[in-house]
Parts: sequence; structure tokens; C-alpha cells
Amino acid sequence: MTVAAPTPKANMGQPVPRYDGLAKVTGSALYAADFPHLDLAYAYLVSSGIAKGRVKSLDVREVRTLPGVLDILSHENMSDAVAHAKFFSDGGPVSNSVVPLSSPEIAYAGQTIAVVLANSYEAARDAAQRIVVDYDIDPASATFGSKGAIDQVLAEQSKKHEDPKVGDFASAYAAAPVKIDAAYSTPTQHHNPLELFATVCSWDGPNLTVYEPSQNVYGIKNGLAQQLGMDASRVRVISPFIGGAFGSKGALTQRTAIVAVAAKRLGRPVKLVATRRQAFTIATYRAETRHIIKLAATPDGKLQALSHEGFEVTSRPDPYAVAGTDASTRMYACPNIVSNVTIVRADRSTPGFMRAPAETPYFFALESAMDELAIALNMDPIELRRVNDTMKEPIKGLPYTSRSLMACFDEAATAFGWSKRNPRPGSMRDGDWLVGWGCATAAYPTQMAPASARVSLFPDGTARVETASHEIGTGIYTVAAQTAAEQLGLPFEKITVALGDTILPPAPVSGGSITTASVCSVIAQACAAIRGKLSNEAVGADLVEALNKRGLGAIEEYAEWVPHGAKAGAMQALYKGAAQPIGGAKLEDRMQFAFGAQFVEVRVHSQTREVRVPRMVSAFAAGRIMNTRTARSQLMGGMIWGIGSALHEQTDIDTNAARYVNTDLAEYLIPVNADVVDIEVIMVPEEDKLVNPLGIKGIGEIGIVGANAAVANAVYHATGQRIRDLPLRIDGLMPSA
Ligand code: MOS
Repeated sequence: MTVAAPTPKANMGQPVPRYDGLAKVTGSALYAADFPHLDLAYAYLVSSGIAKGRVKSLDVREVRTLPGVLDILSHENMSDAVAHAKFFSDGGPVSNSVVPLSSPEIAYAGQTIAVVLANSYEAARDAAQRIVVDYDIDPASATFGSKGAIDQVLAEQSKKHEDPKVGDFASAYAAAPVKIDAAYSTPTQHHNPLELFATVCSWDGPNLTVYEPSQNVYGIKNGLAQQLGMDASRVRVISPFIGGAFGSKGALTQRTAIVAVAAKRLGRPVKLVATRRQAFTIATYRAETRHIIKLAATPDGKLQALSHEGFEVTSRPDPYAVAGTDASTRMYACPNIVSNVTIVRADRSTPGFMRAPAETPYFFALESAMDELAIALNMDPIELRRVNDTMKEPIKGLPYTSRSLMACFDEAATAFGWSKRNPRPGSMRDGDWLVGWGCATAAYPTQMAPASARVSLFPDGTARVETASHEIGTGIYTVAAQTAAEQLGLPFEKITVALGDTILPPAPVSGGSITTASVCSVIAQACAAIRGKLSNEAVGADLVEALNKRGLGAIEEYAEWVPHGAKAGAMQALYKGAAQPIGGAKLEDRMQFAFGAQFVEVRVHSQTREVRVPRMVSAFAAGRIMNTRTARSQLMGGMIWGIGSALHEQTDIDTNAARYVNTDLAEYLIPVNADVVDIEVIMVPEEDKLVNPLGIKGIGEIGIVGANAAVANAVYHATGQRIRDLPLRIDGLMPSA
């Protein structure tokens, strides 16, 4: 075994190479924009240059006459082409409830105000750039503190939201001997998946085929049908490979309906590949957040009181919120807890999910504050977590199905060499570099959703798995094949897998780290049904022999699987593309979380304040690990994104114009190879018999959680400077002037 293919420990699957690895590296894997079409037309978006107001006039006279230009769509000829659909957190399919091209009103900068259709991409782009737009400009509110931005208490806006609380925070906080009261902030961040936001639509009579990278093909199918007023059975969505998503390709964006209408009007397939710059405004993004954390403890470190107040920017029309207090109030034993979340309405596009949407910002605050408390107590930060570790969550006293937080801290601490740490800030200098070591807790709710799949076994000993799940780079082809191979007793090479197409049985949205647990569970169930039909005992060659003895050409099982805690109607919602993740802190009888511990070494240059991260060691326990190779890669990706979240990523906004400034990969900073030196991922064996029959918790997001706090905690240890606002950059670390 190699570093990339760690030797499986207890309850871990083999590091089988990726099922789709060869197709990806040889270029035969087709992404949405790669499929060939006859007689293709091209679309190019015209984006609003202002954040608020209306289009006064759109002068398209010149561009209509340009060679190759076919049509220009705008509110003038599209106003009733697309029907309103509900925002996804109200149970609808769309990530932004502004109806595309429905009116001259502008709700956010970069809103699509027109679309040029042409015979070539170049002609469409050229024409789009020549369109002259005249606006009525209204003053726009950009963010926190902007004139006109409106604060709203989330619990009053959303019936679903509850603010976790228990005991009497105020009295306990007042009485406790050691306290922390600090404010933290995180910035706007954009996904920037390598694969751009593309949509190709093609009509065949009344039937529409959509090629679009998607985390929820059934969601697009049903949502688009609703927007276009057609029967969902006439829409097919194809998305076999997705070049990065992590929330940005989950809900339906405005572009899909526009391209579908364009293709219908032209009577030709239409392809849109939005530009990198447009990606900053046509898809969702991570909202900026603020936090006030208050902690109080006894001198031996036992938490007595915890308060987490969160503030999040959202749009005018949609009450998007991540509300990470659900998790942040449940990490540690504490008798008195209070929390609340405020959303701030501004003239922005609606934010959305980005890897660990709730936990990435909320754990930056919580885990920074825990580090501050450890320092105030003169206590080792790992020991502070240990004295507050608990097998019951503190709000309702529900048991965790499993919780290996301290095992993760202990394994990572040993591998990192934490015992050699001198706790005094600034004490571990190496020449001109100040060395700092920091750590933080990672956690992510273990959720699942209803899923369906078809598994077929054939006389030649091969089997086929079909489910409309999504390969967003996580390795779902691979673990789906592994599950069938294990359950049927066949070699991995004998399994084929089809994903990402709505002609297949529905699978839930690939978000919330639910896919492996949900999809592998239903595949295992279908395999068990095959075994049950042929012969309960037999697997492998014996199973195939049983099939041949009966002279069958194939045996096919269709399975539906529903997770613990699913409400009535959850399975039927799956077929409508609306299955909701279930679990985490939302169950009535138990808590389901995966845990981890992040350890970071930073070096801060004593003169220039440049920050480097030479080393990161993190340990995670997440129930059964299906494949140690894909799992390591997934966890490592999260950790690297955590470094970016701490040190690099920020979408700057011009607060006067409410427009983004750094909308390209030259100025939107992300960690590159030189920023990521030595990353060690430790997978801690854990068996959870409750979460689902295979014991899988999911690892898509936990790798990023707490990593930003671990970096900031390490920077404090190096310098004695506590940075509470991300990203953590040189200017914030200059010795105070
Ligand atoms: Mo994820 S941010 O749940 O796609």
C-alpha cells in the first residue's frame, strides 16, 4: 500500500483505484459541455452592471444585424416564458427565486438581463459585449452595516429553524470565574469549480434533454418542468461527471430554464458555458458571517455557559441561512446554552451551500473561542476538549450513535508530536520564522436521504448498478461498485455502474455528505434481494451458478431505502427531486455526527508576517470507510480547502456599488501546491451500528471543518496575535502600529 492508498484498518474497505480514473485521465469521460450535438447554437449571457434598479433600455439594434446572431432574449420577449418556482429552503427547486428574464427589475449585480444566441460562441460573445444597456440605478445595500440592509431574526422568518438552548445562560455566565466574550467574522467565498457552469438543452418534439453538471438531476428535472409548465416525464437530465460542485451545482439556477426556452424557440440545441467571471454571480456562494461567542468555565475547564450568536448575509427575496448553531451548541458538555441567528437582507444574489456550509464558519468561531478559553485557563487545548467531552448532546440529552472525538485528538496529537509543544506564544522560533502549533475540533452531521437503485446480475458473472446519483469527484462510481462487489461476492472488475441520468432510479441530492451512506445502503439492499431470490447463502461463483441453474438471462432487483427518522412521504419526495437529508442534530431520539481533530503548524515570518503552513495532521472517525484511497483524497481536499478558508479565500465587494471586485482566479486566491506542503490524513477506526446497516457516516465535508480555526490558533501560538476575522492575511498580522 502507498500513501495514496492507505492500508485499511478495522471497518475500512480496500483502496480500490477509481472506477472512472482511466476515463478521466484519458479524456473519455464526458462532462456536460462535451457531448456532441448536430446544428448547435451558442448562448452568451449579458449580466447586469448594477446591483439594484431596472433596465431602462436595452439597445440591441446593431447586434441583431451582426453575422451569426440568431436572437436576443430579454425581459422584452421572455417575460412570461418561465414560471415562478419556490426557493429550495421553502421546499422548491430553485437557488434564487428571481424569475429569469421576467422583468426589467434588477435584484443583484451580475443578474442575467439578456442572452445572445448565435451560430458560434465567438459571435454570441461579441454581440453580448456590444449591447448597450441603460439603467435606472437605485442605491444598493451590499452587506452588514450597509444603509438599507435589514436585520431579521431567523426564528421569526423560518418555521423550520429552532435556536438550541438549555438551562440559564445569563446567571451561569455571570457567576463563572473564567470567561471569553469575542466576535469573529468570515468573508464571502465562491466555489470556483474547475468545470464552469454549463447547460446544453436539446428538444425532440415535446421531449427535452438537459446536459448540465448537477448534484441533483431529479431536482433539475422536476424543477425545470415546473418552470416550463410541462410534464416532468418529458424532461431528461444527463450528468455523468461533474467537475467540482460542493454546493454550487445543487439547486436549479436561472440559466437552465433560459437555455431550454432558447433551444425551443430556435428549434436547435443550445449550449451555454458561462464564463469564470459570470460564475461569481449566476451560481451560489458562501455568505459572509459574523459571530459573538461567550464561554464561561470553572477553573478546571468545565464549561458552565455557552452562547453563540450568528449573523449571515442573504438576499432580499430569499431567506437563505446555514444556522450552524445546530452543531456548535452540541459539541461539548455544558449545562447552560443559548443561541440565535440573525439574517441580514442585502441587494445580493442568494447565497447557497459551500462545503460544510454551516460548520465551516460557525466552527471557526467556536473553535477559536475554545482556544482562547484554554489560554485564559492556562490549560492545554486538547485537555479542554477532553474535560468537556460527552456521549450525550447537551441540549436534549440525546445519545450520540458514536463519538470518537478524543480518539481523533489523541491519534493526531501523537502523529503531530504535540507533546513537544511549548505553550508560550512566540516561544518556538526557527531563525526568522515564528513557529506556531494549533488544533481544533471537526464535526459534521451524519445525514442520509431516501435512495433507490436497480442491481442486475447476469449469467456471465457480471453485475450492473444503476442509480441517478452524482460523481462530483468524490468517488461514488467506485464505492457503488465496491458495495455491489462485496454484497454479491464478485470481483470489483465485474461490476458496471451507471449514474447521473434521470432515466435511472432516483438518488438524492449529492450534498450534506449523504451520498455514500444513502446510495451504498440501497445498493446493498438490492444485492440482498438478489441473494434472497436465488439462494440466501450463496455469494460469488455459487450465486452466479444458482442463476444459471435456473436458466435465467438476468435477475434484476429494484430497491428503495429510507433512513432512520424519515418522515412519511420522504420516498415519494425523492422521485420529485425533493428528498431532504435527515439526521445529524435533527433526529428525535439520537445524535448522529462524525468527528475529527485538526492539527496545524504555521510559520509566520518575524519581519514580513508572511504565513506558511508547512504541516497539517488531522484524524477523522466517520464509521465505516468504504475505500481508504478515495476517503483519504476527500478528507485531504477538505483540509486543503480549510487552509484556503483561513489564509486565502475572500470575494471582495465594493460596498458602494454592491459589486464583486476580484472575479477571476488571478485575484480570487486559493491555495496552490506551494501553499500545501505536508498533509497527513489519519482515519480512526470506528464502528457505528445505528446510523445505517453498513455503518457509513459520510466524509464529504468534515475535512474542512475547524481547519480554519486550527490555522488561526496556530498563528496565535506563533505570534501572540489573535486573528478573529478571516481571511488571515499579512496586513492583519503587522505588529500594531
Ligand atoms: Mo454540499 S455544500 O452539501 O454540496
